[in-house]
Amino acid sequence: MSVDPTRVGVIVVAAGAGERLGHGIPKALVQCAGRTLLEHALDGVFAAAVAGHVRVVVPAGAAKLRSIVEAQRQPRVTVSAVDGGASRPESVRAGLDALPDDVDIVLVHDAARALTPPQVFRAVVTAVRNGAAAVVPGIAVSDTIKVVEGNTVTSTLDRTSLRAIQTPQGFDAATLRAAHGASRSDSVITDDAMLVESLGIPVSVGQGDPLAFKVTTPNDLMLAEALVHQARRYAREQQ
Ligand code: C5P
Repeated sequence: MSVDPTRVGVIVVAAGAGERLGHGIPKALVQCAGRTLLEHALDGVFAAAVAGHVRVVVPAGAAKLRSIVEAQRQPRVTVSAVDGGASRPESVRAGLDALPDDVDIVLVHDAARALTPPQVFRAVVTAVRNGAAAVVPGIAVSDTIKVVEGNTVTSTLDRTSLRAIQTPQGFDAATLRAAHGASRSDSVITDDAMLVESLGIPVSVGQGDPLAFKVTTPNDLMLAEALVHQARRYAREQQ
């Protein structure tokens, strides 16, 4: 089924402080191989070419991030910056409120997943267009995951049934609005699919990608820089 981009919106949440990276500036502004993490993230969104509307949620008062967003020029795509909130769900709601009412598919994407390949966006949009109310990309977990209380293991989870969930997460717009309208405590909400799950609506899992990892720690940033340099070398060799 073909997808009309004018009815698709992407919310890029970039309003986190990024304290675990330790740079003392919003994470989306941190440089990765000569460009900000936000610019890398937007490259993926635009290369996917699935959405006619992109809203980037930035920390209130973050003039530099705003100016990066306002400098983006994409044919047939409206792009604007929106002030975020104290929690990720608040930031997503600010982005939702800034999308046109006639958007019927919404993707929510972490700017911190700056190297997410375009095909992940396309697969998520296609799955929603084909009828899923909510779709999340997931990858198998390689570590053994244990539940711990204090310093004591209380159980070990069956790894075969676990997935590490990434973004972009895609939703039928009405479902996402309803999920964000329901009452809940924002502090325990780490992704949008959790809100949909709490309404009892099924969430489908699609194929994620190792490149969609979240840049959280200095190690992640080193990996991201190495991957960008490698991709540039490869592109030069192909010329
Ligand atoms: O904190 P966490 O790593 O879960 O953040 C995931 C994404 O949510 C990041 O891209 C971050 O910028 C964004 N975020 C936000 N507003 C907040 C907190 C996080 O946009 N208040």
